[in-house]
Amino acid sequence: MIGLGRFGSKRIATILKNSRTQLSTVSDVNPQRAREVGEQMNCAHTAIWQEAVNRADVDVVVVSTSTESLASIALGALQAGKHVLCEKPFGRTSDEVLPAVVTARNMGLTLKVGYNHRYHPALRKAHQLLQQGVLGKLHFLHCFYGHGGRTGYEQEWRTRVSSAGGGQLLDQGVHALDLFRWFAGEFLEVKATAVTSFWPISPLEDNVFALLRNESGCVAQLHASWTTWKNNFQFMISGERGHISVTGLGGAYGIERMVHGVCTTLGSPPKESSFEFPQPDESLHLELDEYLDCIEQGREPQSSGQDAWKTLKLAESIYAAADVRFQTVDDQSIAIPA
Ligand SMILES: NC(=O)c1ccc[n+]([C@@H]2O[C@H](COP(=O)([O-])OP(=O)(O)OC[C@H]3O[C@@H](n4cnc5c(N)ncnc54)[C@H](O)[C@@H]3O)[C@@H](O)[C@H]2O)c1
Repeated sequence: MIGLGRFGSKRIATILKNSRTQLSTVSDVNPQRAREVGEQMNCAHTAIWQEAVNRADVDVVVVSTSTESLASIALGALQAGKHVLCEKPFGRTSDEVLPAVVTARNMGLTLKVGYNHRYHPALRKAHQLLQQGVLGKLHFLHCFYGHGGRTGYEQEWRTRVSSAGGGQLLDQGVHALDLFRWFAGEFLEVKATAVTSFWPISPLEDNVFALLRNESGCVAQLHASWTTWKNNFQFMISGERGHISVTGLGGAYGIERMVHGVCTTLGSPPKESSFEFPQPDESLHLELDEYLDCIEQGREPQSSGQDAWKTLKLAESIYAAADVRFQTVDDQSIAIPA
């Protein structure tokens, strides 16, 4: 386990809970944090991730660092012959993650990116219904995803180009893009705008708005925001025979709910069925379990490295459409291509 911050701690809890996994080694660039967690978990610890990924008793590496290190650590772990579960967005640019995608393929290793929203029960049920064809031809999708940051948010790695590669689009917006692609396939046309409304983080955006159109004319609308002040997740899919709406993700996002509306007579309101999922968020457990199945069975996982690379390409198209260009302060140029 590399990267022992907020989300890394959640990953550790899933590793401990799963009967098929054992926590061998933890690593964080902050040596005190590495030692603290290693002692607490009674496992090996190191501040040097290369030492961790090259250990003989490690089969799978979970990478949960800030974005600037995700791709290079994932690549290093793959080169050491390990399977990798890497956090979203996987890297600052699509170019940065490509070597890891190619290496996983060439070495026959299983590389997955942690788009855990696919494992939330309401979104899973929505996807199953869609697969059953209950909505008919899809017309549009909509996702509003946001929160309001926290005191000192503008000092965090997420709000720096060099460490995050982008703003709210690469933070929460990519989850929506992953879901859009899961529900509606590839998008061919993009219109977008991005603004820095409140946080002093320019050139990074704290709000991004995008309209995406796929081959069959289905339009996906995204608004991802760091200025909603209250955590908010809304996802809607609408087609010729009805709609599915998902709200909440549990916790501070509110109880996860799904509504399925079936159109019976044109002009009359759809017949709606509602479902609630008040249980604790199990998405990370389900995600890890499916990932282990994929390794054991040699199957391509959902949100594979290649899939997440495409999601980053889509994010870059949104930045280009919004006319946003970033230059890093270090020598690794991550300018977004026009
Ligand atoms: N799927 C989700 O819903 C979700 C939610 C939150 C965060 N995340 C992802 O999880 C990752 C971590 O986010 P976080 O909120 O835990 O951040 P964080 O700042 O709390 O933790 C990051 C940790 O990584 C360590 N680190 C940084 N560079 C390192 C390196 N080179 N080697 C080893 N350790 C290093 C830091 O010292 C820190 O302890 C990000 O990629 C983020 O996008 C995913």
